[in-house]
Amino acid sequence: VARVVVLLSGTGSLCAALLAAQQTAFTVVAVGADREAPGLAAPRELGLPTFVLPLRDHPDRGSWDVALATAIAAHEPDWVVSAGFMKLLGPAVLARFGGRVVNTHPALLPAFPGAHAVRDALAAGVRTTGATVHLVDEGLDTGPVLAQTSVPVLPGDDETHLHERIKVAERTLLVDTLVSLTSSRSGTP
Ligand code: GAR
Repeated sequence: VARVVVLLSGTGSLCAALLAAQQTAFTVVAVGADREAPGLAAPRELGLPTFVLPLRDHPDRGSWDVALATAIAAHEPDWVVSAGFMKLLGPAVLARFGGRVVNTHPALLPAFPGAHAVRDALAAGVRTTGATVHLVDEGLDTGPVLAQTSVPVLPGDDETHLHERIKVAERTLLVDTLVSLTSSRSGTP
């Protein structure tokens, strides 16, 4: 069974979907965050270990990155999933887990990278957007795409409504992608 560490910053509905979907292919062994995020409640209720590493508790980004790599490594994951983690992962995390870090993003990359993907898609007036699950590299939402799903932009959509519809599709996409990664490679790179 592949061991998965999930990272989040917010509501954690994607993490909750992973927790609900754990099965023979993968198991979530810990959940980390960069703040006391609401999304930590679900794993804590299940008795899973959680860790919180705010950037401001570290003298600089480099030492935060090393602390994050160490915290993740303590749980010996086969895969690290960034599921609504709103910080760019640094070189220490990537050096340790590179090729085994998956991110999910609420747009059809390479369109609309960054922290405001849904707002940016609405502002651009696209009729279709969606979600992307990809491997993380050192860039901002630039790693190799593993899977995508499209979601239509509806007349009168605002950022909240559109993002909620994207997240419904995104949860399935993330779970399915992780199942196929962990079943085909048995969790070992
Ligand atoms: C998801 O849509 C995820 O793709 C996005 O945050 C949301 C988290 O939802 N991530 C990014 O925008 C990263 N650039 P959740 O807290 O309900 O799981």
